[in-house]
Amino acid sequence: MILERKMQMNVPDLKQQDGYIESSGVENMRSSIVEFAGLFHLYNSAMKEVSTKLEILDDEFHIRHSYNPIHHLECRIKSLRSIHDKLLKRGAALSIDSVREYVNDIAGIRVICNFVDDIYLTEKLLLRQADITLLKRKDYIASPKENGYRSLHLVVEVPVFLSDKTENVPVEIQMRTVAMDYWASLEHMLRYKNSVDMQEHSGNLLHCANVLAETERTMQEIRNSIER
Ligand code: GTP
Ligand code: MG
Repeated sequence: MILERKMQMNVPDLKQQDGYIESSGVENMRSSIVEFAGLFHLYNSAMKEVSTKLEILDDEFHIRHSYNPIHHLECRIKSLRSIHDKLLKRGAALSIDSVREYVNDIAGIRVICNFVDDIYLTEKLLLRQADITLLKRKDYIASPKENGYRSLHLVVEVPVFLSDKTENVPVEIQMRTVAMDYWASLEHMLRYKNSVDMQEHSGNLLHCANVLAETERTMQEIRNSIER
């Protein structure tokens, strides 16, 4: 099952964001809009390619083993505003070139798996495909972040075949279990939707993350013993 947030690049959006971009001082932005639309098409295509690959692997697994390692996929294209904010934060110029250089999460796929082992299995099956190149890997499952965040982050590159050229396009993949996703979604919601200082809750959040991790280890052990 793929849950896709609508591609953010469309004409009404562009018209609305055009004023915003102009007010942020970008020169010749109007002419760059066409270029940006091309860029978004490229990233959207790469996202579709990788999510299709993941779906095919999941389907094949179901046919062969009557089991789906992937619970569901979520896809999103980063909004122009978020790209703009990220470039500003990095102190990079607001240009197509710096978007390509500094923002490798324009196309984002979240892969929600059932068990921890399913994450590494799906990763292995995807990375051994000939047209997938691994650019970056961060394993926050083996080494969780201090706040308790767990997920496996990959940035892969995939070729997109256009009418006159082939472009290699990065796609960020966040792989996590249902429990990791539950924690990350709520932690994100609590952190961003409230103005309260999260410092005083950090111990509790970490505790929840550890409890979930422990529960998942037990669930994995139960599964392993059943399937042995
Ligand atoms: P950015 O993409 O610019 O953040 O840099 P990065 O690629 O070095 O960051 P990282 O791979 O650590 O995290 C990227 C994404 O993972 C974020 O945009 C979030 O979606 C997710 N993430 C990372 N850390 C946390 C966290 O502590 N809590 C939650 N809820 N999500 C996180
Ligand atoms: Mg990011």
